[in-house]
Amino acid sequence: MAKQAQVTWGGRFSAGPAELMLRFSESVSFDHRLAPFDIQGSKAHLTMLARVGLISRKEHNAIHCGLDAILREIQAGKFKWQLKFEDVHMNIEQALTRRVPAAAKLHTARSRNDQVATDMRLYFKAACAELSEKITGAQRAILRIAEKNRDVLIPGYTHLQRAQPVFLAHHLFAYLEMLQRNAGRFATVADHANWCPLGSSAIAGTTLPIDREFTAKTLGFVDARGRPRVTQNSMDAVSDRDLFIEFAAACALTGVHLSRLAEDLILWASQEFKFVELPDTFCTGSSVMPQKKNPDAMELLRGKSARLQGNLHTLFVLVKGLPLTYNRDLQEDKPPVFDSHDQTALCLEVVAGALADLKVNRAKCAMAVADPALLATDLADYLVRQGVAFRAAHHAVGAVVKLAEQNSMLLDQLPFEVVNRLHPAFGPDWIETFDLAKAMARRTGTGMPGPVQVARQFKRWQKILG
Ligand code: ARG
Repeated sequence: MAKQAQVTWGGRFSAGPAELMLRFSESVSFDHRLAPFDIQGSKAHLTMLARVGLISRKEHNAIHCGLDAILREIQAGKFKWQLKFEDVHMNIEQALTRRVPAAAKLHTARSRNDQVATDMRLYFKAACAELSEKITGAQRAILRIAEKNRDVLIPGYTHLQRAQPVFLAHHLFAYLEMLQRNAGRFATVADHANWCPLGSSAIAGTTLPIDREFTAKTLGFVDARGRPRVTQNSMDAVSDRDLFIEFAAACALTGVHLSRLAEDLILWASQEFKFVELPDTFCTGSSVMPQKKNPDAMELLRGKSARLQGNLHTLFVLVKGLPLTYNRDLQEDKPPVFDSHDQTALCLEVVAGALADLKVNRAKCAMAVADPALLATDLADYLVRQGVAFRAAHHAVGAVVKLAEQNSMLLDQLPFEVVNRLHPAFGPDWIETFDLAKAMARRTGTGMPGPVQVARQFKRWQKILG
C-alpha cells in the first residue's frame, strides 16, 4: 500500500516508507498553500512541452483541463490532501494522473527541485506585493493621526529623557520613513525573485530540447522590457535559498519598526505620559484589577517581532552547512517563511486598525512640551548668535539649568540679571528663546521639525500614500 503510494519514485524500492516516516517527512500540511503557484507553473511547463513537441496538442489540452479542474476543487475546499503523497506537488500530480493518464508526461524535463523553486519564486512575488499594500495601509493610518493632530507638539526624547520639542506629526513621520524603506525592501525581494528556475530540473538540467525562455515569459519572469529572465546556473537554481532569507529579513525588520512604534504607544498610553488613549477594541482588561486597560495589541506587536527574528535565524542556520545542491533539510524552509508572511501581514493590519481609533490627549501633550528645559539647546544657539563658541555657550546654559534646578525654578523663571551674571552675552531678549512657536519656526532645514518643513512632509506623504 505504502509502496504503491510512491509511484513517482518507487521503482527501485522493495518496501515503501514506514507510516512514521510518512508523518515525519510530509510537507503537504503546510505547502498546500503553494497549490495555485504550482498549477500555474505546471501549466506554463506544459505549454512549453507542447510547443517543443514533447507532448501532443491533445495531451496538452487534456492535462490543461485537468489542472483547471483540480484548481477549482482546491479553491472550493473539496480537494482531498493526502499525507501519503508527501507534498503539494505529488498530491496534485497524483490527482491529475488519476483523471488524465497523459499527465504522466507532465514531469518530463522537470524535477520537484526546480518545481518547488519556481513555486516559491511565484509565491514571493505575490507575497511582496501583498505586504507592500499592507505597509501602505499602516502608513495611511499613521498619516491620518498626524493629520488629525497637525498642530500638536510633544517632547522628543533621547535616552527616554525629554530632549527637544517636535510636532507629533514629525515623530510619526519617522515611522512612515521606516515603513517606506521596508516597502522598498519587499520590492527588491520581488525583483530578486523574478528569475525562472524551471529547466534546471533536479540539478543538471535536461537532455531534452526544452525552451526555458518561453516558460519564463509565460510565467511573467521578465525584465522591464519584457525579456525573459532565466536562472543562469542549474545547481544554484535548485539550492539557492537567499530569497527566503531576504524575505524573512524584510519581515523581521518591518517587525522591528512596528515593535518600536508599539513601544512608543505603550509609553504614551501609560498614566505617566497619557499622551494618547488606545482604542478599547485593541486593549484588554484585567481579571483582577478592575481599573486596568492593557495595551495588549501593542505588546503583541513587540512580541511578534521576536518571532519574526527567530524565523530569519532558523533560515540562516538551515542553509549554512548544506553541501550543494538540494538536500531534504530545505523542506523546512517553508514554515518560517509562511509564518513570517502571515504574522507580518497581521501586524500591519493591527497597526492600521488600532491607530484608526487612537485618541491624542492634546492637553497632556501641551503640558509636557511646555517644559522650557526642552529649549536649553535653543538658548545655547542664542549665545552662538551673539558670537559665543558653542562649547562655551553649552557650558553657560548648563550653569543656567543648574541654577534653576537648585532654586526649584523653571528655566524661564530666572531673572535676567542672574542669567546675565552667568554669561555677559545674555541680553534682555534671552527670554524670547522660550517662545515655543518661534522656536519651532527657526527649524527651517530639510528634515527638521519646523512648521514649514512639517507642512512639506505632509504634502509629500499625502502624495506618496494617495
Ligand atoms: N517538498 C519538497 C521540498 O519542499 C519538494 C522537493 C523534493 N525534492 C526531493 N528531491 N525530495 O523540499
